[in-house]
Amino acid sequence: MTLPDFRRRKAGNQRISFVTCYDCAFARLVAQTDLDCILVGDSVAMVVHGHPSTLAADLPMMLFHTESVARGAGGKFIVGDMPFLEHRKGQSEAVSAAQALLRAGAQAIKLEGAAGNLEIIQSLVEGGVPVMGHVGLTPQFIHAFGGFKVQGREDAAAERILADAKALEASGVFSIVLEGIPATLGKRITDALSIPTIGIGAGPDCDGQVLVLHDLLGFTEKPPKFARAFGEVASASVTALRAYDEAVKTNTFPTEKESYA
Ligand code: KIV
Repeated sequence: MTLPDFRRRKAGNQRISFVTCYDCAFARLVAQTDLDCILVGDSVAMVVHGHPSTLAADLPMMLFHTESVARGAGGKFIVGDMPFLEHRKGQSEAVSAAQALLRAGAQAIKLEGAAGNLEIIQSLVEGGVPVMGHVGLTPQFIHAFGGFKVQGREDAAAERILADAKALEASGVFSIVLEGIPATLGKRITDALSIPTIGIGAGPDCDGQVLVLHDLLGFTEKPPKFARAFGEVASASVTALRAYDEAVKTNTFPTEKESYA
């Protein structure tokens, strides 16, 4: 994927597939597939580090994981998440963070919310940084929203999210993540924009979809309604770990073949 491909896909009504990824080992697996893009999401703080929200993902954490993913991604288009409030520290901090994420191996950054971000987004885009927007249930707003709650159910809220998406498009983002909104609103926004929308819990009419890697591999105990486990990798891992434990305890591992002469 390149930036022009995003518009081409939308124009040609061809779906775009995104998956989150946080390390080199999994990036090497993603690289073996036809998945289009990788998002090094700040969900890493929850999925990998066990935090209750994404707020714990700071810039060093995002750089560490972006570098790791870039080593295994085999040329896939990588988007790195701007951590909570990093871009609100000031223009120069926002530019430094974007610069660091691109130097770590991302080809683009993603930034949550619209109000108050439009100027910095425009300035980053003018400076050569591809920026992805993110509206709806933006997880960095967990405390403002009072939890992980579907957004845009009421008419006024839906209009606000649609207006935010249009404002982001006007400020130069190349694509927008629509998260946790009614499917009808996902379709409305998708129809209203000329850039592709990437949905997660935003219904089937978005121009592409993104899922959290650990949700789709079956690692998440209580996955959100919108997620689907396409495999049961977690239980397969537990089976392998138990087999290893038993082999050690019954002294059937290692064998002579697994030992040096
Ligand atoms: O951090 C993340 O994984 C995300 C996706 C849920 C879109 O922002």
